[in-house]
Amino acid sequence: MAGGKGERFWPKSRTNLPKQFLNISGSKSMIQQTVQRLEHIININQIFVVTNELYAELIHAQIPNLPIDNIIIEPVGRNTAPCVGVASILIEERFPDSTMVVLPSDHIIKDEKEFVHVLKAAIQISAEGNNLVTLGISPTYPETGYGYIESGEDVRKVKDASVYKVNRFVEKPNYELAEEYVASGRFYWNSGIFIWKTSVIRQYIKELMPEMDDVLETMRAAFKTEVQAEVIRNEFPKMPDQSIDYGIMEKANDIYVIPCIFGWDDVGSWTALERIDELDENGNVIRGNILNLDTKRSIIESNGKLIATLGVEDLIIVDTEDVTLICAKDKAQEVKKLLKELRLQK
Ligand code: GDD
Ligand code: MG
Repeated sequence: MAGGKGERFWPKSRTNLPKQFLNISGSKSMIQQTVQRLEHIININQIFVVTNELYAELIHAQIPNLPIDNIIIEPVGRNTAPCVGVASILIEERFPDSTMVVLPSDHIIKDEKEFVHVLKAAIQISAEGNNLVTLGISPTYPETGYGYIESGEDVRKVKDASVYKVNRFVEKPNYELAEEYVASGRFYWNSGIFIWKTSVIRQYIKELMPEMDDVLETMRAAFKTEVQAEVIRNEFPKMPDQSIDYGIMEKANDIYVIPCIFGWDDVGSWTALERIDELDENGNVIRGNILNLDTKRSIIESNGKLIATLGVEDLIIVDTEDVTLICAKDKAQEVKKLLKELRLQK
């Protein structure tokens, strides 16, 4: 899934170059790292990237060995449910009886070996019935931008991984609920990685998102006689704007969660850099050409030009070619507001 806008990472992440295409940690972009992680278990021919038409060229440039036919182009953004839906019918057609692993393209996973190990266990569970499998992360604070998964009692081991039946899935709860969930010790964050048989997610979509299913079935029929890209361009906008989390995961039964420890981070906002980088002795993240005196707990990224700070605390300072962001660290989640305001002014 590579069609997101990454707005909380503005001004480095831009409409024409969102987060998934940036090198935020390491020397490769997030989407390149995502593909690389998968190549340990499957062939590149079996990797599909679903994205907005704005980014098709970028994907081709960053992942040149990905077959062009495996780039699925959305004419408009409709969030992740239609993205998963259209991928499911194309994958079913190309690879009957397959299992889908659905991944965001903009996450960091430090321990690739553990990731592959857990994925294999998840694939095994998804094969056992009409199961939807998610990978869970132990929450460390009441983040309201994540989905929360309440685990049930019936734990068992598959390939050394613990597997729990899910009691409920709550997408992006409010702060009070998130606090309660974290304190209970029974909840995991949804990593946004899903594993299911293609036929099973098709069945769930039919049941829980029948209107979207109608459009998907129209597409499937049209694929037989018309050009695939044309069909998608015409039909895709008719799908609802809905995430897979709200559309399916909150309503489905038979969900399983595997708690994972593989250095996951969704790099949700600028403060993620505090978890990715090594901090200096005053707790600062320092990227690039920076002179800082008496500066504490700040995140500063230069684009070449020297940034000099003196006597400041808890700031985010990000310089790009045409925009400089200066933001209180506790407002990192609200960077989107600036973008909204900018668009209103245009
Ligand atoms: N193709 C396509 N089309 N991809 C999309 C679209 C779209 O319209 N919208 C988002 N994506 C991609 C993003 O690029 C990202 O890789 C992934 O889908 C998830 O979308 P986000 O917009 O980043 O979702 P989120 O962060 O708000 O929430 C999801 O991820 C959390 C963990 O990071 C949910 O699954 C939460 O439950 C989860 O906790
Ligand atoms: Mg995200």
